Amino acid sequence: MCSTSTTTSPEISTLVEKWRGKKGSLIMVLHELQNHYGYVPRDVSLQLSQQLDIPLARIYEVITFYNYFKLDPPGKYTIAICLGTACYLKGAPDLVDEVKNLLDIGEGQTSKDGLFHLDVVRCLGCCGLAPVLSVNGQIYGKVKRSEVMGILSKYKKED
Ligand code: FES
Repeated sequence: MCSTSTTTSPEISTLVEKWRGKKGSLIMVLHELQNHYGYVPRDVSLQLSQQLDIPLARIYEVITFYNYFKLDPPGKYTIAICLGTACYLKGAPDLVDEVKNLLDIGEGQTSKDGLFHLDVVRCLGCCGLAPVLSVNGQIYGKVKRSEVMGILSKYKKED
């Protein structure tokens, strides 16, 4: 029989004990882990599965159902592109395509060098500047597809 064994970190045990038996315990533990790591590492999910006696597949169902939970480590710079109505109509899907092409990543993924993470969001609250993208919260408005490379280069140079 094949079995997987992992070393349980004390923090996870503490979290599990804190929420054990409470309603929504899995979600609450996942929230704390997401906040702590910026994503939910696979080995941590495995430990949770063992400690909460919940199948790993069930944990992954929950993680992938909610956008809030991430499976990949966050990049140093998070690119958020707004696909709210105003931005969508002003060409934001082109910006998404451009970032995907330039970084060879999909939505919710991090570039291989760990530098950039791409998120697609609904309204960044500055629709007058559509289409809008932000990098670590820095807003760029009325962005043209041809300007995306220049914006990303700036952050690459800073690294
Ligand atoms: S729709 Fe894009 S900022 Fe509001």
